Amino acid sequence: MTILVTGGAGFIGANFVIDWIAAGGEPVLNYDKLTYAGNLENLASLKGNNRHVFEQGDIGNFEHVRKVLAQHQPRAVLNFAAESHVDRSIASPGAFIDTNIVGTYRLLEAVRAYAGELSAADKAAFRFLHVSTDEVYGSLDAKAPAFTEEHPYQPNSPYSASKAASDHLVRAYHHTYGLPVVTTNCSNNYGPYQFPEKLIPLMIHNALVGKPLPVYGDGQNVRDWLYVGDHCTAIRAVLERGALGETYNVGGWNEMKNIDVVHTLCDILDAEKPKDVSYRKQITFVTDRPGHDRRYAIDARKIDKDIGWKPKETFETGIRKTVRWYLDNQSWVKNVTSGAYRDWVTAQYK
Ligand code: NAD
Ligand code: TYD
Repeated sequence: MTILVTGGAGFIGANFVIDWIAAGGEPVLNYDKLTYAGNLENLASLKGNNRHVFEQGDIGNFEHVRKVLAQHQPRAVLNFAAESHVDRSIASPGAFIDTNIVGTYRLLEAVRAYAGELSAADKAAFRFLHVSTDEVYGSLDAKAPAFTEEHPYQPNSPYSASKAASDHLVRAYHHTYGLPVVTTNCSNNYGPYQFPEKLIPLMIHNALVGKPLPVYGDGQNVRDWLYVGDHCTAIRAVLERGALGETYNVGGWNEMKNIDVVHTLCDILDAEKPKDVSYRKQITFVTDRPGHDRRYAIDARKIDKDIGWKPKETFETGIRKTVRWYLDNQSWVKNVTSGAYRDWVTAQYK
């Protein structure tokens, strides 16, 4: 038996594949287009491990996905592949429509054809797990209760709208064609291998190279942070015990204002890699993101009650590990912050 992971060379996908193989899971066929966000260096620890097979490809390529499914006969497909950065979706939404909407549709078509050829027993055991985000629910007021699975979809950015569309397609393929699906909607992740365009790795990187730490708007926007390893255990739990057609919110019960996250990072760096002045001096308030969602917060009671999943890391333990990882892996950072990354940073923060 094998599982097929799409987007397994990106941040969460790579962490998932590494953890899955370390935990003795079945062999993984890792299917990834290798966009700017996909990086085989994330999987360097699996070099020579025959339980990990990499195949470069686009989830929107129906024929290729069909071929790969027929060849590897996975018992599950886990869809991490996506364009994932809100700011890029504002600058150029096209790739988000292509991959997150059309790509997910084509992947679903290929999986539907594959599942239709399985024996009744294999089809009953088969799962399509769709990895999604809390951003589909839109923005919360300061005092509003956290997002439950029943919260209406109110996406506000091209990224969240494209993920919302993909969630609806996954739901429809279950309802209409009986595809055995489960969906997870997770809050903001942080941890090793996160591309330094996202808040936490961008701040660590800029701090270390002596650049400004660009906080959007007033820095009071709230995100609910979860260590990536906890997201990976949640996905495993939902794959094994999730009910068909259900969605599960995944979160760390850890709401924080952006400015507090940045202060925390500066304070850890002041202790771990001190210099003559505090890293806090590099904080710079910059023009806000258009349509910037004010607050996200996840109510993670359903996944706890129905599946028995809880996060293991607190923000304090997870963020320390993360800063340590970036300090210890500066050559990884150096490689991913060359070339196309520089063009993005120049255009975004000009
Ligand atoms: P990422 O941008 O780091 O990685 C995405 C991966 O998908 C890359 O390896 C890329 O090469 C690959 N990819 C992109 N388009 C593809 C295509 N058409 N075909 C095949 N592969 C393609 O993203 P991430 O942060 O690891 O997020 C993974 C998933 O989790 C996404 O679906 C995202 O929406 C979701 N999610 C992310 C977060 C977060 O905080 N990062 C939170 C909740 C949910
Ligand atoms: P990000 O990591 O892009 O995740 P998302 O937009 O999906 O939540 O951003 C997290 C928060 O940090 C968000 O409120 C925007 C803010 N932010 C900054 O203030 N400065 C930055 O340079 C970036 C990238 C994000």
